[in-house]
Amino acid sequence: MTKKIGVLTAGGDTPGLNATLRGLGKAALMSYNFQIIGFKDGFRGLVYNNYLELDSVKLSGIISTGGTLLGTSRDKPHCMVVNGKTHDMTDAIIKNYHEHGLDALICIGGGGTHKNVYRLIQKGLNIITIPKTIDNDVPYTDTTIGYDTAMSIATEAIDRLHTTAYSHHRIMLVETMGHHVGWLALGAGIAGGADVILIPEIPYDVHVVAESVLERYRIGKNFSIIAIAEGAVTKNFVANVRRLENQKKMAESPEDRLKAEKLLAKLRIYRPDHVMRLAAKLEELTGLDSRVTILGHLQRGGNPSANDRLLATRLGTEAVALIKRQQYGVMVAACGNRVEPIPISRVVNKRKYIPINHPWLESARQVGTCLGN
Ligand code: F6P
Repeated sequence: MTKKIGVLTAGGDTPGLNATLRGLGKAALMSYNFQIIGFKDGFRGLVYNNYLELDSVKLSGIISTGGTLLGTSRDKPHCMVVNGKTHDMTDAIIKNYHEHGLDALICIGGGGTHKNVYRLIQKGLNIITIPKTIDNDVPYTDTTIGYDTAMSIATEAIDRLHTTAYSHHRIMLVETMGHHVGWLALGAGIAGGADVILIPEIPYDVHVVAESVLERYRIGKNFSIIAIAEGAVTKNFVANVRRLENQKKMAESPEDRLKAEKLLAKLRIYRPDHVMRLAAKLEELTGLDSRVTILGHLQRGGNPSANDRLLATRLGTEAVALIKRQQYGVMVAACGNRVEPIPISRVVNKRKYIPINHPWLESARQVGTCLGN
């Protein structure tokens, strides 16, 4: 019996989303004779029933293209902004899902998408997820769609910064994305031969970083490349967070508690000036000239790498095979050469940090990279 499936892309875009849509869409149409529709702009499309039929023409010629033909958004169905106000739109989603007569929905997304999906599964929808994010922080999968491409983009940037760094004898700081995890900074930092790599998982001491730059200078290497994740933090920052968390816990009045909470919230806001302040401090401590490059959304743009296209096709086709077997409520995870279904209840609310004993960190140390601690 034929099935009807829906698909959406949610959260920040990544290279390889179109390759994923192509992989699952072509498998659905050609191997299983399923009908497939795509909802536009993440969960918002499902709320407003904004969709398009995915036929073989729409799915052709897109394996190499960036972005997502469906559009995406960071909307959360249970607290969606509609006309300036926040509403729970879960019922609208359930209604549209059933009115379309969907057998299953495929959601391509990262951590936030898994939280949204988990809520919808509990409302009885059949959902399968495919992990994508350039941050590579979804647990139980070797890697996520988009990470390989973003790492290559950041590596090429570091390569280019090398030549200008050594010509001008400067410290070059390059900030990668990764607000909670350091996979991009570490992967690109190692591949690009960065001299210092700073990641959220290892709080750094600016004096240690300055000393490693000076040591290079003393032995005749009068330039340094620092790869830093946007979420990297100093040891002082971590100490401040701990102090405020303690103050919050021990607060004697609701006012004191609120004060500590407000200060904590302020501390945790993404600070785009962090890398600028680090550059200025390093100039002060080393007497060397420094420059900052923030790679930002460049890392999410453009064509996917061959590895991401391959991963997208493997995970996309397996998602449809699972629907054929009526196995729902799972994420398709890359495990070596295999693709494994992992229950979404295990994936939700978890993040894949770089373990402190990860072999990449050991390799970085062995080639003399300073990790700032
Ligand atoms: O979650 C992926 C990510 O690329 C983060 O590394 C980054 O902090 C964030 O998205 C930026 O998101 P936006 O495009 O919404 O500014």
